[in-house]
Amino acid sequence: TTASSHMDDLMSRILSDESVLRVKDVENVRRKISRILEGGVEKLHVISDFDSTMTRHFREDMSRNPTCHQVLSSGRMMSPELIVPSTNQFKRATEELYKKYFPIEMDTSLTIEEKMPYMVEWWSKAHELVIGQKLTKNDIKQMLVDTPSKLREGMAELIIQCKEKNIPLLIFSAGVGNIIEELLQTNNLLFPNMHIISNVMQFNPETGICDRFRKPEIHVFNKSEVTVRDLPYHDTIENRPNVILLGDSAGDLQMSKGISHEVCLTIGFLNLEIEKRLDAFIELYDIVVLYDGAADVVNWISEKL
Ligand code: TMP
Repeated sequence: TTASSHMDDLMSRILSDESVLRVKDVENVRRKISRILEGGVEKLHVISDFDSTMTRHFREDMSRNPTCHQVLSSGRMMSPELIVPSTNQFKRATEELYKKYFPIEMDTSLTIEEKMPYMVEWWSKAHELVIGQKLTKNDIKQMLVDTPSKLREGMAELIIQCKEKNIPLLIFSAGVGNIIEELLQTNNLLFPNMHIISNVMQFNPETGICDRFRKPEIHVFNKSEVTVRDLPYHDTIENRPNVILLGDSAGDLQMSKGISHEVCLTIGFLNLEIEKRLDAFIELYDIVVLYDGAADVVNWISEKL
């Protein structure tokens, strides 16, 4: 039948090159994908992390493709009252935070519980620094011009497929929603089927200056505590029991926790420290995409829907 030939075609594509994609449990992946195909577009929604998942981790020259927070901290400051030395101090301070806390986020010898207090500390210090910069909405636009962050290969196609097939796409990020929105908007990739849950900079209505972040703060390991249940977005996914989840860390698997579902196919992007983290990563995610690779596998599935 067509359905089974679709499945064979998909599985052979997924398993064809181990230097690009890894699957621990082939039968499990086959089962999940066939249920997703049987359910069709009406039963599916997608949940994705943003930094290093929707965006690439590395640029072509292997320097870091900036995260939302790095866009905020490396952009040229526009507020006239800010003098250059304070901008440089801010950059240095946020870089120091990154150097201190990112290795803790990545450390395979620590448990999520052990990392948690450090992440809370990182996010609250980083947001304090951002607030200290007295940024306006216009500064955000300019920062993305100065410090662009690139989407992962295949991601624009995925966003467009979701839009055309009316598949809800939830972006669930410990980054900064204002940056995510602006980045997607300038790429003409922000559509009504999408919803962003992230940290949000709030601007004082009188001064136009960012003076706080919306609570609760979302860091890499509390994604399970933030829920869509009370949001209007929940209505759009309520009768969609099949999920494709995209992430790049153990914490991202928590994104589907607050959402009831029958099938959750997880795709993990293993971008760096491949040899060291591969064994653990393959246990976490159904399909592992190696070396900061393309999001094509998700497009292959949605093309068959
Ligand atoms: P994600 O949930 O969209 O992956 O975003 C979180 C990433 O942001 C995480 O990997 C660490 C990074 N980050 C920075 O680069 N700079 C910062 O100041 C903070 C707080 C986080």
